[in-house]
Amino acid sequence: MAAITMSNIVKKYGDGFPAVNDVSLDVQDGEFMILVGPSGCGKSTLLRMIVGLEDITSGEMRIGDKVVNTVAPRQRNLSMVFQNYALYPHLTVFENIAFPLRLAKTPDEEVRRRVTETAGLLELTEHLERKPANLSGGQRQRVAMGRAIVRQADAFLFDEPLSNLDAKLRGQMRTEIARLQRRLGVTTVYVTHDQTEAMTLGDRVAVLRKGVLQQVGSPRELYEQPVNLFVAGFIGSPSMNFLPASVEGTQLVTPLGRLDLRDPAKAAAAAGREVVLVGIRPEAFEDASLVGADKRATGQTVRARVDVTEWLGNEQFAYVPYEAPADLAAQLRELSRELDGDQLRTQAVVALDAASLIAAGDEAELWVDTGRLHIFDPATGENLTRDEERVAELGRHAERVRLSQRGARQDAPG
Ligand SMILES: Nc1ncnc2c1ncn2[C@@H]1O[C@H](COP(=O)(O)OP(=O)(O)O)[C@@H](O)[C@H]1O
Ligand SMILES: [Mg+2]
Repeated sequence: MAAITMSNIVKKYGDGFPAVNDVSLDVQDGEFMILVGPSGCGKSTLLRMIVGLEDITSGEMRIGDKVVNTVAPRQRNLSMVFQNYALYPHLTVFENIAFPLRLAKTPDEEVRRRVTETAGLLELTEHLERKPANLSGGQRQRVAMGRAIVRQADAFLFDEPLSNLDAKLRGQMRTEIARLQRRLGVTTVYVTHDQTEAMTLGDRVAVLRKGVLQQVGSPRELYEQPVNLFVAGFIGSPSMNFLPASVEGTQLVTPLGRLDLRDPAKAAAAAGREVVLVGIRPEAFEDASLVGADKRATGQTVRARVDVTEWLGNEQFAYVPYEAPADLAAQLRELSRELDGDQLRTQAVVALDAASLIAAGDEAELWVDTGRLHIFDPATGENLTRDEERVAELGRHAERVRLSQRGARQDAPG
């Protein structure tokens, strides 16, 4: 096993456009790192440079303590894990797992030993003589992993392995991969454009936009303390709402009403600015009639016309259209397009308790948890309200979780 260290990695294809632009990223030994971003942001290109399938234009790629820029893929000892259809249908599970060893002309005795060991680890011992067609989706995924494990590679690399599967199978596979990675403790880089996979699988997530690394952190850090509009909008579903606001002293005048900045740090972030974008996650809203007096006092209420409601049993969403100045509205639409969003209008999405009786057409009283709002610079997109102390705390928490999972693995039998 090995760490993967990328320093100022650039990839320019023939047309000179940098598909990957100055990316520096350290994947620790045994870490599960996710690369996420919209289609075309350079995820696959970066992964292929790690494996050696793509030349590196400039920068340094290290695996363990060795610079591998000019090392052939075969010599890098990494394993790309493919989707289940990459299994050979005419071969047994045993021979599917043994495949890379057969290619390397490994003696029979050793093949038998290593495949048996790997199958044990993956709970495939009973299935070694079966063909892939007779296995469940989860078992096939384990065979594909087995083929990677049997080679004793230094790291696993996945490129959107679940994107062709239906939602149910995708959910199962996600759990399977997470469990295996934690059990084996092999350094893993996993590419996806699906933010649910990004949030649930990795120790840390690296967000890419147009070839440029935006932020690297635990899922919680990205969600709670995004560095900019892009990360804030990409992580979380439904997305964070961005409301244009003019600043009047310690008040933000938004299309949904005035919000007081009682937190001095937030007031300081807005001070001296005319216009900002206010970021409020859907769940930071609630039907005011369902909020107790104590909690109510920690936030603020606004009145807004609800356009549509969606009741989902465990929660409900309400949509609140609003007017925005033309230039900011255009900027928000552009961001939504880039995030692969389908939001055509400026509207806030509000998550309400399922018990709420707010209905379409109502002039509703909504409570806002103002402690959780973010303020963004509309020109640069920078989050002006990131809390560095909290970021450090979340970083320590993530490290503790990672180490305890690793400890649990070492204690586990086998
Ligand atoms: N072989 C290639 N030649 C030229 N341009 C490419 C090639 N492969 C990818 N690109 C371009 O590089 C950018 C990043 O592509 P890619 O890494 O495949 O993105 P992602 O995996 O994030 O969807 C895109 O603009 C894509 O069009
Ligand atoms: Mg790709």
